[in-house]
Amino acid sequence: MAPIEPIAIVGASGQLGAALVAAYAGRALLAPPHRELDIEDGAALEAFLTASRPAVLINCTAFHNVDECERLPERAFAVNALAVDRAAALCAAARVAFATMSTDYVFDGALGRPYTEADAPNPLSAYGISKLAGELLVRRHGPAHYIFRLSGVYSALGTSNKGYTFVERVLQQAERGEPLRIVRNMTFSPTFAPHAARVIRDAIDARAYGTHHVTNAGATTWYDFAAAAFARAGLAPAVEELQYDNYGSAVKRPLYSPLASTTLAAAGISGAPTWEIGLEEFLAGRAARKAALA
Ligand SMILES: NC(=O)c1ccc[n+]([C@@H]2O[C@H](COP(=O)([O-])OP(=O)(O)OC[C@H]3O[C@@H](n4cnc5c(N)ncnc54)[C@H](OP(=O)(O)O)[C@@H]3O)[C@@H](O)[C@H]2O)c1
Repeated sequence: MAPIEPIAIVGASGQLGAALVAAYAGRALLAPPHRELDIEDGAALEAFLTASRPAVLINCTAFHNVDECERLPERAFAVNALAVDRAAALCAAARVAFATMSTDYVFDGALGRPYTEADAPNPLSAYGISKLAGELLVRRHGPAHYIFRLSGVYSALGTSNKGYTFVERVLQQAERGEPLRIVRNMTFSPTFAPHAARVIRDAIDARAYGTHHVTNAGATTWYDFAAAAFARAGLAPAVEELQYDNYGSAVKRPLYSPLASTTLAAAGISGAPTWEIGLEEFLAGRAARKAALA
């Protein structure tokens, strides 16, 4: 199969975007920064597609601060749904395949087993609703699209709108000897961005259009994820267990939203390794960066 090139990535400075840039090393790649191409600016996006003629546009942008989305649903819909819809329409008109990212938060967490691509969404939050709206809007522009649902993404970078990712933040708190309080009753599939990027690249190279769940394999709670990181990093902080009170909180979140994929294997694409392997790679990179700075 001929390689899909050139590849264009919007949101390339983010956790997943940067990991995709690395995964596509050596390939023809366009990665305009946010200041040059805003996904909400349809005219700028159309001009970019006309000038650069990518074979696929990969959208890694999002407004994904879940609390802020609840407070500002119009912004959540502008970035996560309406801009995604417009981008998909422009790509369809220009015969450019379109890939966009979604989330485990499209599910309500009530199923009691990991969600596959065949399970029905039922988002609880403005963020999840806006991402599901983005999915539905994309699907109506024809089959040449990919929707990749991720969960608990982390990398060395952290996110621009949330700051350090959870694991980096709790490791730093533990290193400073600060008290920690971590949620125990919320289960998900932590996903190391470089592992997700490899799967996404392979799915696009295989032209495996459709909706795919892309996470590290397995599931854990935020508390146990942090405990695994502390144990591997040689830290033993005191940690108070919290229960996320779904119904007392301003934002309802799924309490059990691990993702599993049936579609990737059917398309001959190997999934990401376990979350423990993802965590170990993250920690090895972190230790190497610290040693280089010392
Ligand atoms: N992080 C998670 O835990 C998680 C979980 C499930 C799904 N996802 C989904 O995965 C995708 C990638 O997430 P991530 O963690 O990599 O996010 P991230 O690190 O916050 O990166 C977002 C990127 O989008 C850019 N951006 C934001 N608004 C933009 C706009 N209007 N126009 C152009 N660029 C814009 C940001 O640039 P600036 O920094 O310059 O603004 C940044 O490069 C998102 O769709 C997200 O919803 C994430």
